[in-house]
Parts: sequence; structure tokens; C-alpha cells
Amino acid sequence: MTKRALITGVNGMDGSHLADLLLEKDYAVFGMERRASAKNRRNTAHLEGKITFLSADLTDQNSLMRCLKEADPHEVYNLGAMSFVGESWNTPENTGDVNGLGCLRILEALREYNRPVKFYQASTSEMFGKMIENPASESTPFYPRSPYGVAKLYAHWITKNYRESHDMFNVCGILFNHESERRGIEFVTRKITDGVARIHLGLQDKIMLGNLEAKRDWGYAPDYVKAMWLTLQQDTPDDYVIATGETRSIREFLDAAFDCIDIEDWSEYVGQDPRFFRPAEVDVLRGDSSKAREVLGWKPETSFDDMVHRMVENDITLLRGNR
Ligand code: NAP
Ligand code: GDD
Repeated sequence: MTKRALITGVNGMDGSHLADLLLEKDYAVFGMERRASAKNRRNTAHLEGKITFLSADLTDQNSLMRCLKEADPHEVYNLGAMSFVGESWNTPENTGDVNGLGCLRILEALREYNRPVKFYQASTSEMFGKMIENPASESTPFYPRSPYGVAKLYAHWITKNYRESHDMFNVCGILFNHESERRGIEFVTRKITDGVARIHLGLQDKIMLGNLEAKRDWGYAPDYVKAMWLTLQQDTPDDYVIATGETRSIREFLDAAFDCIDIEDWSEYVGQDPRFFRPAEVDVLRGDSSKAREVLGWKPETSFDDMVHRMVENDITLLRGNR
């Protein structure tokens, strides 16, 4: 029997990598996208004709039910979100609506649909925020520091609550930062690799950033979508931290990225701008993924240096193509 999966946020970084993975596994893939006046298929152009795109929005209940009926999925992956933490202070209400209530709307649609569908919620290390414990595991108390983190915490708890209240197969992956060549340009890693590529090609003089001291536990997105799939293949629904266990500062990311173009001292190429600092910062994130490693048999396969190299090389190639 061909398995059918519905992915919200299919045009995003994770959505597109997950669609690639599920196609390799012979799934019929249905990708939910919100359609504005123009298509946004930068990450999914290669999937046209291979997956079915469905138009819907996480803020529109009826559209979600229509998607479920059209896809008739065995698995639903909720990856759609307003995913940029910095922007969540500018649009807190919309962030709560999409990231918090959007999840509730899918759960309600699933209840009404009333078929055995496995549901995956993309929870986040931003829920740990202040990091009561380092490294953070599934039992670490949450302390979100942004409207984004607070909205995601609602989605996390409502997913668990519907599992316990309605006997649904709902799981949350508490995903630490992960990046790839398909990362949005406003996130710090891609902003750096794109900037380094531009400096290399003589197209830009400086990269303007905010807080360089913040530390993140950075993994490679294609490894993380494998964890998503594995989580839904278990017999019992449960939640898992997905992380590398290593943490590095933005400065260390800069070291690795500039190393790709043989620049050791990058100080003259990087400036700081107050616009890129946040009202409340998450200083450090580091995750303990022992449970995922033991139960799911998952581990990160791509090293930090390999990931940074791939991103810089990809940006150089893209920019050369554009010129
Ligand atoms: P992403 O590239 O920003 O993708 C998010 C997708 O959600 C985009 O395709 C976006 O569509 C879509 N979306 C936004 N608002 C929507 C709405 N109202 N209705 C339907 N779709 C909507 O994010 P990502 O990095 O792939 O992350 C995937 C998920 O994992 C997100 O839920 C994110 O919060 C979570 N997560 C990510 C990380 C990470 O480090 N990447 C870590 C923890 C958790 P448009 O293209 O139209 O904007
Ligand atoms: N975006 C950005 N731009 N961040 C900067 C900059 C800059 O110019 N300068 C410094 N930073 C710092 C931020 O202050 C933050 O501490 C860190 O770089 C990482 O910022 P982002 O790349 O925007 O990612 P994030 O950690 O806030 O959020 C990502 O990871 C979360 C999981 O922990 C996103 O993917 C979220 O969706 C995800 O939930």
C-alpha cells in the first residue's frame, strides 16, 4: 500500500527536504502551501510534477479540512510557521495565530476527519529559551523568551493534550537549530554564508549582524527530517529532543564560513547594527538527544564544518549563476 503524507509549509526549508525524503521512500506526498499573488517555490521547483501542491492556510480552518480530505493522509507533518524569531516581536498576534492556533486548527480538523492519522508537530528549542538546564532534554522545564517561543509552547502542549484527551497519535519533535542550503536568507547562518560568498565575489564589503556572542546547537536539516519520519514510525507516540549536543557562537560560525574563502581574520568584513539585536535574547542552546538516539536509532550524520562548507559553496555557485 502506498503511504500518503501531508506536509504543511512544504515550500520551507524543512518541508522541501522532508518531501525529498518521503518521495525516496515511495510516499505519495501532498504539500500544503499558502498562495499569495505569486508562487514561492524556490525550494520546491524540483518537486513540481512529483508531489501534489494544495492551497491552504493555517489560519483558515475550512482550508485545512479540505486539504485533509484531498490528501487522505496516513501522516501529517505540521512544519508551517512564522518561523523567524526576530520578526515575532513585530507581529506577535499573527505569530500566535499561525504557530499556536494553527496547530490547534489542524488537530480539530483531524478530530473531525476521524481517521487514524499520525500527526507530527515541529516544536522548537526556543521553548527552552533561558535554558534552566544545559543541555536541555525532554524533561527540562520550558522558559520561552520570544512571542515565537511562547506560541510554539502552546502548540507543543495542545498537541500533547489532544494525545492524552482524545487518544490521538500525536508527537512533538523538539528541534534544535538546523540549517541547509535552502535556509531563508534572514536567518543568521544563511545571512553569513550568502555574505561570505558575496565578499568572495567582490559583490559586498561587509556583513552587518547583531549579537555575535549567542550560541546555538546547529545541525543539518536533511538529518533532522529523517528524525521527523522516524518519530512517526514508532508504535507509541512520544516526544523527542533532536540536537547535536554541540554548541557554537555566531563568532565560531563566522570563523568556519570565512575559512571557506581562506580568510582567517574577518573583523574588517563584519559590522554590528542595533537593528539586528533582539528585545530578549536566547544566549545559549544545547540539546541532549540521548532518547532519540536510543529509541529512534537517530544521530546527526553531517558535521558542522561540512554543513558550513556546503552552504558557502552553494551560495557562491548561486551568485555566479545570477551574474
Ligand atoms: P521555513 O523555511 O520558514 O518554512 C515555514 C513554512 O511555513 C514556509 O513555507 C511558509 O510559507 C509556511 N507558512 C507560514 N505561514 C503560514 C500559514 N499561515 N499557513 C501555511 N503555511 C505557512 O521554516 P523551517 O526552518 O523549514 O522550519 C519548519 C518548522 O520547524 C517550522 O514550524 C519551524 O518553526 C520549526 N523549527 C525549525 C527549526 C530550524 O532550526 N529550522 C528549529 C525548530 C523548529 P511561505 O513560504 O508562504 O512563507
Ligand atoms: N537572524 C539574525 N540576523 N540573527 C542574528 C543576527 C542577524 O543579523 N546577528 C546575530 N544573530 C543571532 C540572533 O540574535 C540569535 O541569537 C542567533 O543569531 C540565531 O538567530 P536565527 O538564525 O534568526 O535563529 P533562531 O535561533 O532565532 O531561530 C531558529 O532556530 C529556532 C530553534 O532554536 C529558527 O529556525 C526558529 O524557527 C527555530 O525554532
